[in-house]
Amino acid sequence: MSRSAHPAGPRHGDVLPEGHFTAPPADLNGLDARVWARTVERGAEGAVAVGGVDVSTLAEEFGTPGYFLDEEDFRARCRAWREAFGPEADVFYAGKAFLSRAVVRWLTEEGLHLDVCSGGELATALAGGMPAERIALHGNNKSEAEIERAVEAGVGRIVLDSFQEIARVAHTAERLGRRQRVQIRVTVGVEAHTHEFIATAHEDQKFGIPLAEGEAAEAVRRVLMLDGLELTGIHSHIGSQIFDMAGFEVSARRVVGLLREVRDEHGVELPEIDLGGGLGIAYTPQDDPREPHEIAKALGAIVTRECESAGLAVPRISVEPGRAIVGPTAFTLYRVGTVKELDGLRTYVSVDGGMSDNIRTALYDAEYTVSLASRTSTAEPTLCRVVGKHCESGDIVVRDAFLPSDVAPGDLLAVPATGAYCRSMASNYNHVPRPPVVAVRDGAARAIVRRETEEDLLRLDVG
Ligand code: LLP
Repeated sequence: MSRSAHPAGPRHGDVLPEGHFTAPPADLNGLDARVWARTVERGAEGAVAVGGVDVSTLAEEFGTPGYFLDEEDFRARCRAWREAFGPEADVFYAGKAFLSRAVVRWLTEEGLHLDVCSGGELATALAGGMPAERIALHGNNKSEAEIERAVEAGVGRIVLDSFQEIARVAHTAERLGRRQRVQIRVTVGVEAHTHEFIATAHEDQKFGIPLAEGEAAEAVRRVLMLDGLELTGIHSHIGSQIFDMAGFEVSARRVVGLLREVRDEHGVELPEIDLGGGLGIAYTPQDDPREPHEIAKALGAIVTRECESAGLAVPRISVEPGRAIVGPTAFTLYRVGTVKELDGLRTYVSVDGGMSDNIRTALYDAEYTVSLASRTSTAEPTLCRVVGKHCESGDIVVRDAFLPSDVAPGDLLAVPATGAYCRSMASNYNHVPRPPVVAVRDGAARAIVRRETEEDLLRLDVG
């Protein structure tokens, strides 16, 4: 990474940020609509507000750190995906991004389906009232108990991930006297342009059955022979935080290729294809995600073209966005505890959370922005690193950010675009209780997941 003197004055120290930023933003008090939830704005007093409630009120009522979620934005994004894909397609929200019973209710009301990948997510989906036929169960190593629970509940789809699982699900369905609808997850050999840990369709990885060497075709043969299974389609998920549609294009082409092989060999036209999730969002203003209608149009065109050339009827398409729905809808609110100015380096601003509520910076080098949220400031920008309270130097929330140089203990900082994979990947590292998720809408705020307490932690410690 290049390090050189910053032109804007000594308060920036002598290093440039290593990420996207090369200079402080023109207006440190501004809230860039690309990274903030829809109803976020600064109120008359200068404090950031969401859903008409300002952060000082939210911090007082719910404490910090906390995730504050714009319910109107969440619902609007659900509707945008539904409308973009239309009645001929299904949008499965990927629950791993963030799931709670309230979220399940919103999804149900907005007409979405739900992808779950564990017994816990399935239990939450059912407890939140999602009709079982709108649930898909995923996972590369589903337990017998998870499979049984899903079949018994009557989930609309189990996505088969291995040859062993084909036998397991068939056996469970037959034992329960059911015929379970299934898809087969294939790996199409596409390496999406994303972090290595979240790229999933190249062949050297644990998910799915490779299309290569005829393995997926063999999986289809086996499934078609089993009474307990009804094969409805083929599934492919190529990775996460993807901006480029090229990977989806290759994936769709290869999946349709398998549909054609299946038709030629078995005389069966499978009625569904699922192209997975993975659509990127803006974590910083430099990120430029596609809108749902552009994605729907592009995917629809690719699948239609490939099916026409294969002489197949166009199957029902489904997609599984998680991050693209919930990611932009929430910000994490922290309170500043200490500020250390390291001469000639940078300023370390310590907040009351950290890698336990957002592991993404440490795990994936994820980039975030941060704003002083409890007030505006006209102080000059200073290069900061926003760090947490954990006993580990990699405990970084925002690696490089400009904050007003008068940032001080007691200030509230907000980190936008933390709706996906922050609460759902939160931990109790250092026995820190996990923060609440608070939904805000039309001037009213309510916890949809309450803050954990030390009592909660001790309850698991049985002596
Ligand atoms: N469908 C399947 C089969 C998946 O495995 C995933 C994500 C999704 C859909 C949703 O992907 P999304 O649209 O949210 O990108 N913890 C990582 C992301 C891991 C994603 C795993 N699978 C992160 O924080 O970036």
